[in-house]
Amino acid sequence: MGQPPVVYGQSERPPRGDYSRAHADYTCAQNWEAYTEADHETYHRLYQRQVAQLPGLASEAFIAALPSLGARERIPRFDDVNEGLYRATGWEIVAVPGLIPEVPFFQLLADRKFPVTDWIRKPEEFEYIVEPDVFHDLFGHVPLLFNPVFADYVQRYGEGGLKAARLGACEMLSRLYWYTIEFGLIREGGNLRAYGAGILSSAGELPYSVTSPEPRRLPLDLARTMRTRYKIDTYQQTYFVIDSFQQLFDLTEGDFTPLYEELRGQPEFAADAPANAP
Ligand code: PHE
Ligand code: FE
Repeated sequence: MGQPPVVYGQSERPPRGDYSRAHADYTCAQNWEAYTEADHETYHRLYQRQVAQLPGLASEAFIAALPSLGARERIPRFDDVNEGLYRATGWEIVAVPGLIPEVPFFQLLADRKFPVTDWIRKPEEFEYIVEPDVFHDLFGHVPLLFNPVFADYVQRYGEGGLKAARLGACEMLSRLYWYTIEFGLIREGGNLRAYGAGILSSAGELPYSVTSPEPRRLPLDLARTMRTRYKIDTYQQTYFVIDSFQQLFDLTEGDFTPLYEELRGQPEFAADAPANAP
């Protein structure tokens, strides 16, 4: 997983996955033995296609950490990934059957546990899958959890999510998740690069987000981001750009309570709205 379900809450279908396997906190054992040769082959093909186009498009921090996931030929055992990850930043990945509700999701992040869906898409879903699978969650999200500043940001996001749930502000906060952790762009050494997991795990959106003249690219601004709707079934029409992970951390460090108050009742921006007009 990797998004609070409010992100996918626009979907009418129940989440895919066998939730009878889950503990009370929604985690479960990674059912590694159950992967078929075809499952490993799907992972390998997705990995190969994506790794080939990272240079010049993906954040250097992501590229540098990717080998920490281990061999690309097979779906990794989460325990093996955790050895290095815990040593690097104190984070762990935990298996989940699929999408989980927002409060347990926030709680896991606050505890530095990143929920990773353990099933993989079917071969006929190779190009597009609606819900996050193990390729999206692992390949897309986990490498940057090796970066100490980004890793701290994600934990803070989890804590902030628990607070937003109490304040009824999850929709605003989830937009920040969407436009940073899922679809964020970063300027590195003057060049635009992708660091969001939704981009990094997508063969088409990776070049589109960085090079297409079509979408808007705005500097990350909390109020603007939290007021901007998003599309879950097309490439993004607006991206928000940061200068560094430290800037992302610093921008989001303060208490959001007054910001939520201020933004409540203000008009939203459409996903493709120009910079200053809703
Ligand atoms: N500072 C935010 C708050 O007070 C929490 C947060 C941190 C949210 C980092 C997102 C990212 O609610
Ligand atoms: Fe995700």
